[in-house]
Amino acid sequence: MIVVSAQGLFAPLLEGGPEQTQWEAQKTSLRTAHRELMARRGKDLGFYDLPNNEELVKAIDSEVQRLRSLADDLLVLGIGGSSLGGQALVSALGQTGPKGNHVHFLDNVDPDTINKTLEGLKPERTAAVVITKSGGTVETLAQLLIIRGWFKKSLGQGESQNRMVFVTDPEKGLLRELSKTEGIRTFDIPENVGGRFSVLSPVGLLPAAFAGVDIGAVLAGAQEMVERVTDNEIDNNPACLMAGAAMLAGEKLGKSSLVMMPYSDSLRTLTAWFVQLWAESLGKRLNRHGETVFAGQTPIPAVGATDQHAQLQLFVEGPRDKLVTIIEVSQARQPLPIPDELENIPELTFLRGRDLYELLEAERRATRAALLDAGVPVLDIKVPRIDAPSIGGLILLFEAACACAGILSGINPFDQPGVEAGKKMALGLMGRDGFSEYAQRVYLREELGIS
Ligand code: PA5
Repeated sequence: MIVVSAQGLFAPLLEGGPEQTQWEAQKTSLRTAHRELMARRGKDLGFYDLPNNEELVKAIDSEVQRLRSLADDLLVLGIGGSSLGGQALVSALGQTGPKGNHVHFLDNVDPDTINKTLEGLKPERTAAVVITKSGGTVETLAQLLIIRGWFKKSLGQGESQNRMVFVTDPEKGLLRELSKTEGIRTFDIPENVGGRFSVLSPVGLLPAAFAGVDIGAVLAGAQEMVERVTDNEIDNNPACLMAGAAMLAGEKLGKSSLVMMPYSDSLRTLTAWFVQLWAESLGKRLNRHGETVFAGQTPIPAVGATDQHAQLQLFVEGPRDKLVTIIEVSQARQPLPIPDELENIPELTFLRGRDLYELLEAERRATRAALLDAGVPVLDIKVPRIDAPSIGGLILLFEAACACAGILSGINPFDQPGVEAGKKMALGLMGRDGFSEYAQRVYLREELGIS
């Protein structure tokens, strides 16, 4: 079972940390936030109900079989919430398989990356999934034009359409329209599920299934977590605990940054997905009353033990503005004993015959203690092992915690108005009709910069 513990935020574990009475006060706010989320579940909040969908698993498995008969490689076109969740699933759980089914996420419009990726692929053994909830994201649409042209050039239009699959809103948007005019197979992203909360829909599940991930097991783990994060008893609810602890650290202890530090390389990409979830959901200028608050908690990705040799110095001795979330994985997937090599070097005796996982665990425990010794609060998350149910559980936990943290801090965690201005200015610069005034704003800034 995944366990969340906030003991490392409080006295006596954290010397000078808040007393338990502060947590009791936080629980009152948590109850209100949780009640609101539960009232919205299934209405405008669809992510809690994504895991309970056996039909979808069957439909995806059958589409994946078809795609695998056509292709060894899958290109996934999409950006932000339409890409990072799939990347997290594939990197934690994906297999290359006997036929070598590889998934390539094109989540940028950098020509170097796309050229390099296509150079390594054969169009006749490649398929593509295009993912965009709004159906109108310029980066994804530009990728679509490039990949369609690449297929068409060697395989013709019919075959290009046959090896593309769309994932988009059930009704709205350009991609939905295109799916109809071009007759392209299309999976729905439920209307009430936003980009960064959509990993457990076809957005993440289709690429993951192609990479050999047992998506039924991912959803089973997530469903188990749904039961826990919808529990009205706050003390039993790990999402409320995580959200309450993170927001308490933010508001009462001035911890404006949250480090996410799993001791597992398999969780590195999941951490990148978490960063997007926490940043885009919680970073808001206005609260829900329209007042300016500049809310948010900056998520910082780290991986143990690697980042002990990169960022830990800052976490321990730098600004007192961080809460460090440490993820322990209780069991390695496979043992890796350290052999009896270099017997004549006595300094290495203590390592020989030990498992490498013991070293990783020792490093995690030591880092946690060192942070607490330095007065840095720690939020602990324990995961039994890296497998499909645990990853599904973690995803659901983080989504539910993020939603709860947003409501708790008084903002809307489900929108992203702050990215609109830049999007419009870029469209203006590219000459899209109706956007020239936004281009003017860019020119003005550039002129001001030069003079
Ligand atoms: O989380 C979000 O809503 C965003 O990060 C979106 O996923 C991202 O902007 C891509 O949007 P779309 O799926 O509409 O192409």
